[in-house]
Amino acid sequence: MVPLIDPFARAISYLRVSVTDRCDFRCSYCMSENMTFLPKADLLSLEELDRLCTAFVGMGVQKLRITGGEPLVRKGILTFFEAMSRHLQSGALSELTLTTNGSQLAKFAAPLAALGIRRVNVSLDTLDPAKFAQITRWGRLPQVLDGIEAAKAAGLRVKINAVALKGFNEDELFYLIDWCAANDHDLTFIEVMPMGEDMGEGLRLDQYWPLKDLRARLAQQYTLTDLAERTGGPARYVRLEETGQKIGFITPLTHNFCESCNRVRLTCTGQLFMCLGQEDMADLRAPLRASPDEAPLEQAIRAAIARKPKGHDFDYSRQHVTGKMTRHMSHTGG
Ligand code: GTP
Ligand code: 5AD
Ligand code: SF4
Repeated sequence: MVPLIDPFARAISYLRVSVTDRCDFRCSYCMSENMTFLPKADLLSLEELDRLCTAFVGMGVQKLRITGGEPLVRKGILTFFEAMSRHLQSGALSELTLTTNGSQLAKFAAPLAALGIRRVNVSLDTLDPAKFAQITRWGRLPQVLDGIEAAKAAGLRVKINAVALKGFNEDELFYLIDWCAANDHDLTFIEVMPMGEDMGEGLRLDQYWPLKDLRARLAQQYTLTDLAERTGGPARYVRLEETGQKIGFITPLTHNFCESCNRVRLTCTGQLFMCLGQEDMADLRAPLRASPDEAPLEQAIRAAIARKPKGHDFDYSRQHVTGKMTRHMSHTGG
């Protein structure tokens, strides 16, 4: 089978699948408080998602990340992980993983580990219970901390994803780092992206904490060494020489990483987004449902990859936001 190569000679080997647009939290940079979710009837069944993912694996996808919304609130999700684990066993997938808010990990960590999941990315921006409740609106910190502990106990490696927010978690930078070191979690910071129609421009810009500033702050206390290591995602890593810790930076704004993009995103209704920061998408549900034959589906996937754009247009320079997406982050799972 010919691998998936886009117009900029990038091989597509990483598929992110949002299995639900729903979530039990309402993080302010991701969703509005009163979200209208997709009617359940519009969702692809888990069998249909399986067919789609399997088609991608057949075309060279080696890394599959399950996202949401919150993936672990989708009914039957373990059955889906179990089905996908056959691609791990066959060797076709090198990694099957998920990005979660952690709220359901106490229940799911052990069964996920048993299915061959080795690590999870958990979104956690603050260790202060009041601030956590404020930013997630509906979330409660102890529940997430219990989930993270369950993940560790099940033998999963945990990567904490923290969105860097000026005036919000700036003062917790060193505390977050120390906490991750003490608990042996990896840690990655993410620059806040302008997504969702109700995010006022002012709010976005006010909250934006460029990771080059965060890095400069770190350099005052630690010796930083850039690492060549990659996990297949967009993060670039540094080592803090004094502690040996590895810190990741995801910098869509200060350092565009689109030239090495290897991923596309599938939503729970079968839309394929070729870029997180562009509107264009391809409907895969129609070819999926039109025929039990895989050929039209594969053709639709190839046609979509052939239109993958060069990159996003997010830009905050000159105190002005451009390249903004009205789509919420929860639609594509980040
Ligand atoms: P690993 O490196 O395997 O841990 O995965 P990852 O960093 O790709 O996955 P994760 O779900 O932790 O991604 C973290 C966040 O980085 C996402 O939720 C997005 O906010 C951002 N991100 C990931 N991929 C892209 C991308 O292609 N473009 C942009 N602009 N942001 C991305
Ligand atoms: N900008 C950057 N990251 C975001 N996430 C959600 N919304 C945004 C945004 N506007 C992150 C979450 C989570 C991942 C799925 O995406 O914190 O780690
Ligand atoms: Fe839910 Fe994650 Fe979005 Fe927060 S960032 S509302 S946890 S999907």
